[in-house]
Amino acid sequence: MEKREKLYEGKAKIIYTTDSDNLVIQYFKDDTTAFDGAKKEVLEDKGVINCSISTIIFEYLEKHGIKTHFVERLSPREMLVKKCEIIPVEVVVRNVAAGSFSRRYGVKEGTPLKEPLVEYFYKNDELHDPMVCPNHVYMFGWATREELGFMTKTALEVSELLKKFFDEIDIQLVDFKLEFGRHNGEILLADEITPDACRLWDKSSGEVLDKDRFRKDMGKVVESYKEVYRRIVERYEKV
Ligand code: C5P
Repeated sequence: MEKREKLYEGKAKIIYTTDSDNLVIQYFKDDTTAFDGAKKEVLEDKGVINCSISTIIFEYLEKHGIKTHFVERLSPREMLVKKCEIIPVEVVVRNVAAGSFSRRYGVKEGTPLKEPLVEYFYKNDELHDPMVCPNHVYMFGWATREELGFMTKTALEVSELLKKFFDEIDIQLVDFKLEFGRHNGEILLADEITPDACRLWDKSSGEVLDKDRFRKDMGKVVESYKEVYRRIVERYEKV
């Protein structure tokens, strides 16, 4: 697989074209941003850890029937993925109150939700990713009813699978964000699944093991991501 030119550079990843029209390379940077890029730091090794975690999780999800863009890991920071047209809707699933949900609705962080809650956000940095409802998605033409229905159903399936996945390693999956893309007439789970895009709390101590450590200046960001990875490898015996 030949790596060609840079197609797109985001805040934490770069997409490169390849010699295949159908495949691109997703490169994980060490750059870490929060608050729509207002806070930025380079955290050594974060890209490698995130590429490792995302690889294992995509393989796990594929094994359990979720169609993803993941093809194979190529190097410590690179994975080969199916080229997708990304749908500009971030799908967030919450199991426990935290973050913007707690702020918006005045619910104490850590309060369990009585059922998994799916929320949608318009992926747009300039507008600060506003929360939207399904009618916005259809009206703006970001996705059809059928596509959003599929994304929602898949997000809830992913939630169940990931809850079990993390439960096994003594981690509570509080919430997470997914992105989807269109590829050859199919909707695939795209982007990444890493501590950058999930809230992960140690079940015993409540310790935060995700990007909130960066957002809230709690320190030991990469160390926490490494701890998540260490537990994943120990339990799932994959590198
Ligand atoms: O900030 P908020 O509480 O809405 O985030 C919900 C979940 O989605 C968190 O796990 C957060 O890390 C993730 N998220 C993300 N990218 C965004 C917004 C949220 O990965 N642009």
